[in-house]
Amino acid sequence: MTPTPPVLALPTVSDQLTARLQEGLEQVDALLRREIDHEDPFLAEANTHLIEAGGKRFRPLLTLLAAELGTGINPDVVAAAAGVELTHVASLCHDDVMDEADVRRGAPSANAKYGNSTAILVGDMLFGTASSIIADLGAAAVKIQAQTFVRLCAGQIRDARPAGPGDDPVDYYLGVLADKTGVLIATAARYGAMFAGCSPEVVETLREYGERLGMAFQLADDLIDISSELEDTGKQPGTDLREGKRTLPVLYVLASQDAADSRLRTLLLEGDLRQDALLSEALDLLRRHPAMEQARRRTHAVAQQARDALDALPDSEAKDALQALATSVVTRVG
Ligand code: IPE
Ligand code: IPE
Ligand code: MG
Ligand code: MG
Ligand code: MG
Repeated sequence: MTPTPPVLALPTVSDQLTARLQEGLEQVDALLRREIDHEDPFLAEANTHLIEAGGKRFRPLLTLLAAELGTGINPDVVAAAAGVELTHVASLCHDDVMDEADVRRGAPSANAKYGNSTAILVGDMLFGTASSIIADLGAAAVKIQAQTFVRLCAGQIRDARPAGPGDDPVDYYLGVLADKTGVLIATAARYGAMFAGCSPEVVETLREYGERLGMAFQLADDLIDISSELEDTGKQPGTDLREGKRTLPVLYVLASQDAADSRLRTLLLEGDLRQDALLSEALDLLRRHPAMEQARRRTHAVAQQARDALDALPDSEAKDALQALATSVVTRVG
């Protein structure tokens, strides 16, 4: 399952820019395949499994598009994009172990296919390969990747833990999103500008934009977990509910005093949502609940903050595309 990459589906993108991005993406994929190949056939297969399965290639496309603000796509930009995608895929291997997810990119997850221990080690191998690619780009790039992965892991650990007694639940949740997802998307955008010769100010603008875009991306992913089907996402809907994750619409329902919400609140607080019947009842109630619209509004507001971050940049086709990308991230269904 390889859906159309989001940047290429944007109405504002000219045929010329589309062709450059597509060509860049092919170079990224070729580099990825070269780097993750292995003399052991099992390891070659395990390393390539999720990459062959598809995925949107959102992060590498963002790196390529950010480079268009400077001198354009070049071999360093392609390497940075490949390093970011591999870091992402490594995190997916680990995430599916944590979330006990059986399906990823419309294919069996690494843990479903090879077991948890192997899935964790495949994730580590992919992360090591990502680091090796990034190392060719110099110490500054390695430092950014290292700091990115530390924050990503911190976010993933905090995502699996409840907010503390003194924490505001929505603030805690938004902080987790910034760490587990925002930072890697910020790095994707930042690398693109960095390796296309943009000024430090523009690189910082892209980092800021990317972090907000990444938060909007994860807020949308959390809504999609409730509202979309397996065919749209290649992932099992309701995974967050089953795992007891308090995503934004759930937090809104839990904060509601409305008596009409009592069944849904009871299910969310006390129901064993590992039971299919209870999970589908909770999903059904949540899909129709106004908390979804409330969470969607908040998601669109964060996408607007991402667009605002670009205000200082001079007008260009790449800027328009980055702005349209922020909209497409929060209106997607998969
Ligand atoms: C999934 O990312 C993990 C999240 C941060 C939500 P994507 O939705 O980009 O997954 P792929 O790469 O398209 O499979
Ligand atoms: C994971 O968030 C974000 C990562 C850092 C991998 P999710 O657990 O919501 O991602 P999906 O929905 O499984 O892709
Ligand atoms: Mg998950
Ligand atoms: Mg997760
Ligand atoms: Mg999700």
